[in-house]
Amino acid sequence: MASLKPLVIATSIDAGQRTAIEYCDKLTGKRVGSLRLTRMVSLGIAEHGSPTLYRVTAGEHHCLGWPRSAWNRWLQNRLMQRQPSAHHALMAPVAVQQLMVAYLCPRPVVLVSIDTPHHRNMFPMDLIGPLSRSGLYSLALRSTNVSAQIMRETGRVALSCIPADMKPMAYKLSEHHKVPLKDWDALPFPVRLSLELGIPAVASALCVHELTLLHSQEIGSHTFFLGRIFSDEPLAHGDQLHHTPGYYQTYRRRQEMPFAEA
Ligand SMILES: Cc1cc2nc3c(=O)[nH]c(=O)nc-3n(C[C@H](O)[C@H](O)[C@H](O)COP(=O)(O)O)c2cc1C
Repeated sequence: MASLKPLVIATSIDAGQRTAIEYCDKLTGKRVGSLRLTRMVSLGIAEHGSPTLYRVTAGEHHCLGWPRSAWNRWLQNRLMQRQPSAHHALMAPVAVQQLMVAYLCPRPVVLVSIDTPHHRNMFPMDLIGPLSRSGLYSLALRSTNVSAQIMRETGRVALSCIPADMKPMAYKLSEHHKVPLKDWDALPFPVRLSLELGIPAVASALCVHELTLLHSQEIGSHTFFLGRIFSDEPLAHGDQLHHTPGYYQTYRRRQEMPFAEA
């Protein structure tokens, strides 16, 4: 993801002016959803597979079947109106439904750390991921985030891949999208320094990636960062925390292969 408003996806494949992403379930091979995309611009950054931005124009999923699908959409829209989350307050209901389709490819949650003499922070992100052909890694961060400008200046972050049982702590740390961390000791878990850049990361992480940031630009509501993995340190085995829509879990349950829930 490159931005939520407008809803923009970055890819290292330039697939022409109009294209689509189809999401297929690995177990059944069946198509569970699709997004229609219109090309905006190629960023001309990497030699191979330069990232291209696509605006999402439509989306649908096939996890529930009619009428359950329509009923589910109605319930979700009503919930968004009654209890708008930060994402949902930002986006139109139709764009939230499209975003959920993108989560049919379950999105890993990481804790991002930034450390400078005057500013330190750690907060959760899931609008992240590799753009494989370009060798780049992208992050989409709300431009109102208290560390967005510091990230642009320092150009380095550590990403801790966290185990699923750290979900409550990861959600609690979302307050640090608005308020920086006072001290690393203020975290409710121990930290360890990342391999090369010495950035405090989660001690019990499954792996820690260090990232050097090469490019950033504002796209609507978000700052889109592109970087390269500087080091990759596997630390432990376990299930990493991921996000996927509830209707996909319903589909998987019907296949008798539900995802483990945290
Ligand atoms: C698990 C998780 C992942 C998140 N991922 C991102 C992200 O990738 N980019 C981003 O800008 N904000 C991300 N957020 C932050 C939220 O969208 C929101 O801005 C933050 O929680 C502050 O919410 P509030 O405005 O309701 O206090 C994430 C939050 C959580 C809990």
